[in-house]
Amino acid sequence: MNNKSKYEVLFTENQISEKVKQLGLQITKDYENKNLLLVCMLKGSILFFSDLIRSIDLNFHIDFMAATSYVGTQSTGVVTIEKDLDLNISNYHILIVEDIIDTGRTLTCIKDLLLNKSPLSVKICTFLDKPSKRTVSLIPDYSGYKIDDLFVIGYGLDYDENYRNLPFIAIYKDWFESNYKFITGMI
Ligand code: IMP
Ligand code: MG
Repeated sequence: MNNKSKYEVLFTENQISEKVKQLGLQITKDYENKNLLLVCMLKGSILFFSDLIRSIDLNFHIDFMAATSYVGTQSTGVVTIEKDLDLNISNYHILIVEDIIDTGRTLTCIKDLLLNKSPLSVKICTFLDKPSKRTVSLIPDYSGYKIDDLFVIGYGLDYDENYRNLPFIAIYKDWFESNYKFITGMI
């Protein structure tokens, strides 16, 4: 069971679907007449990806990749590719679809890896962005909402594999409270 006292809603289902529609419209305009491949970054992007592809009014193909860098609420800094693409990407314009960008290390690594395979182009679409956490210079081409340095769950995002099924995005309070106390010297 999900424990409601542990989180606080940040973006509602309506706010999410409005933003996804806007992103879909923009991508539809930008990729008209282009051979587009949308790449879903597993697992966190699954809900955003499934909504986004239904808001893009074009013909395109899809593929999946999985990379890990996180344990609990901390980035380990080591990016491991768990699943690579199935398709040969040389004739595609690639749009990587990500749930959230934090330090930027995961997507910098993925983007370099894909560029090495010489596709027509590689761009990034993220639903959430934490620009204040960046340790490498990475700017997404499409971005839904910018957020502060908070740990968020829901709409595909997890805390240790839990909470992905929440239909909204919420601040994970356990993380916030322990960090807030730490920052303010309360403990
Ligand atoms: P980065 O390499 O530090 O940019 O990490 C990006 C990945 O870390 C995302 O794709 C998520 O899987 C995970 N991540 C970063 N911040 C959060 C968060 O607030 N909640 C859940 N997962 C997160
Ligand atoms: Mg992710």
